[in-house]
Amino acid sequence: MSGRKRAKSHDSIFLKQVTCHRDCLVASIAPHQPAKHNTLHGIPLSGKLWPEGFLPRSGRLDHFRYIFYLAWDLNPQTCAECMRVAFENGVNYFDTAESNAGGQSEIDMGMVFRKFGWKRSDLVVSTKIFWGGKGPNDRGLSRKHVIEGLRASLKRLQLTYVDIVFAHRPDLDTPMEEVVRAFNHVIDKGMAFYWGTSEWPAQKITEAHAVAQRLGLIAPLLEQSQYNMFNRECIEKEYMPLTQSFGMGLVTWSPLASGILTGKYNNGIPPDSRLALAEHPAITRLRAGLATEEGRRKFEKVRAIMRIAQNIGCTPAQLALAWCLRGPSVSAVIMGASRPEQVAENLRSLAVAPKLTNEIMLEIEAILQNKPEPIFNFRKS
Ligand SMILES: NC(=O)c1ccc[n+]([C@@H]2O[C@H](COP(=O)([O-])OP(=O)(O)OC[C@H]3O[C@@H](n4cnc5c(N)ncnc54)[C@H](OP(=O)(O)O)[C@@H]3O)[C@@H](O)[C@H]2O)c1
Repeated sequence: MSGRKRAKSHDSIFLKQVTCHRDCLVASIAPHQPAKHNTLHGIPLSGKLWPEGFLPRSGRLDHFRYIFYLAWDLNPQTCAECMRVAFENGVNYFDTAESNAGGQSEIDMGMVFRKFGWKRSDLVVSTKIFWGGKGPNDRGLSRKHVIEGLRASLKRLQLTYVDIVFAHRPDLDTPMEEVVRAFNHVIDKGMAFYWGTSEWPAQKITEAHAVAQRLGLIAPLLEQSQYNMFNRECIEKEYMPLTQSFGMGLVTWSPLASGILTGKYNNGIPPDSRLALAEHPAITRLRAGLATEEGRRKFEKVRAIMRIAQNIGCTPAQLALAWCLRGPSVSAVIMGASRPEQVAENLRSLAVAPKLTNEIMLEIEAILQNKPEPIFNFRKS
């Protein structure tokens, strides 16, 4: 199968990665392969799949993957429409968490799977366990909460399994061996196929791998972390050794910095936007952050980024998303949207990614001024 062959809209987005991988083998870029690489449903996850500047000749980056994520405050109809637009445009991976909207996000997502009758085997679904409620045992990664939490998530989703279950945060109070055994237990029981981490320090992920290796158990496959033009350190630096040594894949969230990179907040907070809505600690923090000196500097950068978007004929949201897709070792980008029109606009960023030449990436770099220093190789000093 040719890597340049255009995939049908319903093809698995993971299938597209296989075709890309083959393209790369043809382009013989063996030195860019990680020392070890893992797969999800047979699809390679990590490592840079082509050298800097190499773009498939079709001019379309079919192999890039998007994951759709439900914002917390969507009504069920809007939620269904957003997911339908995503699915009809080739997105087959949907992500949620037990904590999202107190479990309502899982209920809504599960209802959409049923409503449209999508075939389970065509879908990749993940959820995250950590914050399950206010009861004394409803938090963290104890064996009890991992098992009870995932059981409750599956019930809300009306599914018998998820493809991936993430440990939503590290649990400093539960021994790592208990955590690793708990996630292996839910995999052994058929409640999940793989497990991953989210916002774990690299040291904790390394510890999980060491424990899994010592006990002959399954180690975390993916890390899910924040990544956007304003927040780069973990993906571009801290996790690099994890992708190289363990072949871990990186799945990223908040590509639009909660909407700031769309430019919609440049002149104040629009009444129909996320930041105008809920009284939620995270929203209050975001709003407060925009009013600071750092917030003012971010807006200056957004305005400059918007000029680049205009020059290459795309929206700022599309540019910000395409930039994330270019991130080193990024396996897939989680896209959040509150309206179907946003989903449609954002997915067109696939056509923008090939326009991000090295020159444009350097122009963006000159605006952002926040590229993490590479890990220093003392042999080369
Ligand atoms: N592993 C994790 O910990 C994890 C994973 C995923 C998400 N999250 C949670 O999700 C949040 C961050 O993700 P995020 O949803 O903010 O990600 P984001 O993709 O940076 O922002 C999404 C928001 O931007 C706005 N937007 C999207 N497309 C737009 C467009 N084309 N034009 C204008 N506005 C557009 C929408 O907000 P409006 O409502 O303003 O329209 C949408 O809800 C955090 O609160 C985080 O807690 C966490």
